[in-house]
Order: sequence, then C-alpha cells, then structure tokens
Amino acid sequence: MAEILFDTRPKSRREDFFDRNKEIEELKDVILHKDFAAVLGIRRIGKTSLVKVTLNELPDHISLPINLGKIGNKKSYPMDVFSRIFIEGAVETIKKYTFAGKVSKIIANRLGIDPSDILELNWVKIGIKLREFNTQDVNEVIRALDSVSKDNKKYLVVFIDEVQNIKKVKDFDLGSFLHDIYEWCENTVVVVSGSFVGVAEEILNQVEEEKPFFGRKFFRIKLERFNEETSKEFLSEGFKEEGIKVDDKVIEDAVKHFDGIPGWLALFGRSYSYAVKHSHPVDIKVILKEAAKEVSKDFTTFLKTSNSPTRYAEIILALSRLGNKGNLSEIRDVVNSLFKENVESSRLNELLSTLVKYGFVIKVGRGKYALPTDLPTKIGLRHSAKIWIKKMS
Ligand SMILES: Nc1ncnc2c1ncn2[C@@H]1O[C@H](COP(=O)(O)OP(=O)(O)O)[C@@H](O)[C@H]1O
Ligand SMILES: [Mg+2]
Repeated sequence: MAEILFDTRPKSRREDFFDRNKEIEELKDVILHKDFAAVLGIRRIGKTSLVKVTLNELPDHISLPINLGKIGNKKSYPMDVFSRIFIEGAVETIKKYTFAGKVSKIIANRLGIDPSDILELNWVKIGIKLREFNTQDVNEVIRALDSVSKDNKKYLVVFIDEVQNIKKVKDFDLGSFLHDIYEWCENTVVVVSGSFVGVAEEILNQVEEEKPFFGRKFFRIKLERFNEETSKEFLSEGFKEEGIKVDDKVIEDAVKHFDGIPGWLALFGRSYSYAVKHSHPVDIKVILKEAAKEVSKDFTTFLKTSNSPTRYAEIILALSRLGNKGNLSEIRDVVNSLFKENVESSRLNELLSTLVKYGFVIKVGRGKYALPTDLPTKIGLRHSAKIWIKKMS
C-alpha cells in the first residue's frame, strides 16, 4: 500500500515506521526477557507506534491495551473512569483472541451482568455497576488473561499508554497493581509509555522504591527527535510515496520548523500532499497553525489542572519576550516588570522545574532555560499563555 508514512495515526508495521529499528529491537529484547519497559519521549515522537509495531512482530504475545491517553483534562477522576478504560481494553483483547473468551465471564460475574453486555460494551448496563470494580478486580482479570495465555502457550503484554495520567485517578494504587502482576502473572509483562517525561519518571521511580516492588525496575527506552538528515529523508520518502514533487526549499523549511518531531512531519506531509493533489493553495503557515492549536490545547489543560496557572503562563511569555531563552534572573526580572509581580528566584526555580518536568520548557544549562525548539510548540504555548493572562485580567 502506498501513502503510508504520512498517515497521522500511530503506525503498526515496521515498514511504515521510519528509522526506529534500533528502538524496536531494544523493546523486543526487554519483552522477550520478561522485563518491564517504559517508552519515554515527548508527544508525537512515536511511542504508541513503537509499542504497536513491536507487539505486531511478537506473534506469541497477546496485548492488553490500557489507554490512559483517553483520560480527560480535569484534575482528578474517580476509579470507575479507569475501570471503563480497562474494560474497553480487555474487551479488545478478548475479541481479538478467541481463546480469551471466557475472561468476559469473569468480568460479567464480578459486575453481576451478562457476558454479552461486556462484549458489546453496553455501558447502560455496565455503567452503574462500575463503581464496585476496584484495583483487585482489575488484577483478577489480568491474572485470568495470564492464565489463559499460558494455557495457549502465549504471553501477555499489558500496555499502559500515557502512564502519567494514572496520577489523576483517585484510589488506584499503581504500586500494588504492578506488584500483583509480578507476583502472580508469570506470563505477563508490563510496558508503559509517558509523554511528560519528568512526570512519568517520577511515578516510575516512586513505584520502584516502594517495598513491594523493591529491586525491580523498568527498562527505559527513550525516543529522541529525528536529526536534520533523518527528517529530510522522512519527508522525501513520504512525498515519493504520495507521488508528489516538492521543492528542496519546502523540505528545508519544514525540517527547520518542525524540528525532528515525526508527528509534525507526518501532519505536514499529509496536509501538503493533500493540497497539492487537489490543487488547493498550500500555505505552510496554515499547517503550522493547525499544529500549534494542538499544543495550545495541551498547555491549557496543564494550566487548568495546575495550582499556579497564571505564574506558568507568565513564565512562558517572559521566555518568549527574551527571545525564547534566558537565565533565572532574566526570567524573574521580565515576569516582575511585565506583569507587576514580585516573584522570587527560589519560587521561580520551583515553577520552572515543574515546566521542565512536563517538557513545556527545556533546561539548557545551569540556571538556563528555553522554550522547545519546534515552531508549533513555541506558537502554541505562547498562544495559550496569552489567552490565559487575558482571561485573568
Ligand atoms: N518513526 C516514524 N515513522 C513514521 N511515522 C511516525 C514515526 N514516529 C511517529 N510517527 C507518526 O507521528 C504521529 C505520532 O506518533 P505516535 O506514535 O502517536 O506518538 P506518541 O505516542 O509518542 O505521541 C503518528 O501520526 C505517527 O504515525
Ligand atoms: Mg501515544
């Protein structure tokens, strides 16, 4: 099939997944040794794709997806929001692997409804009972999947996508959840992904230090941006697939603006090809804006759920004013003069390290900070921060 590199959904085949053979082999190695893996990297760098492609090449492994990327933008959620996502994943697994069919009975029994309601995801019936479904029940289902996998000479991979969102779920104990799998599920490994790298790391470190998990660790696989060369190759190859001739200048500009983030490159390639094929005018600014809007949404969500949104917004605007980078005292002075604040260095330091943990600001040296280098992120952050300040004044 042609026109694949510029598909804007996660990839699931190696041939559509550009230049990540090394990472695929690494993740495979971890899984085949029955260790746990954490795939870390900023948004749109290819984490979900990496896990999908890798699992696709492991026919003896069945997967149970728990997609926490579906969790919304509020500060906290009750357990049943998690249970719902979990049951959705479990049903996907059960439907894909017929030998796992009987697991639907276990879920149905626990909820006191028909297995067919589970398989059809009949939320009217499931909904009200969901509140009684707790971490132990989740683990019970995983144990059952582990055991049917074993009976069928298979292994189970539990894939928790965007694991940092687990922090938003009240009453869910990740440590004991993982511990139960370690203890009872011989045939199961866990793979997690995390976009807010610092936050995900914090969660993993915490889990690893907890007693029940002592001595175990997640093997970290870090996905980095493409370098200039690879970005260029990616675009050239993608346009070739689409059968479209593109000026070197266009490619060079795109490489500069999107700074090695595959998700942006794919979005750009797709929009550009579409416009050319259907004789629409192509405007790279419009594509940039579309991309920036996504970042803006992400950052607004972060602001809404944080305790000092206005401060964070001010820091972003101060950095932007400083030409996108500055040291602590420069940022402090700009924040204080521009917004008539009186923020001290120590407090600012704290706020900055949170922004770094989430990847909205990059630490470039001792006491030196910068906005991320790709244009959509810079524009999106600035836009969201401006709107926030305006709303607050
Ligand atoms: N190496 C790659 N080759 C081709 N497309 C990629 C690659 N990495 C990411 N993409 C594309 O970028 C987008 C984001 O990828 P995804 O796996 O969803 O990233 P993440 O899970 O890190 O946010 C998707 O459209 C995906 O197809
Ligand atoms: Mg993802």
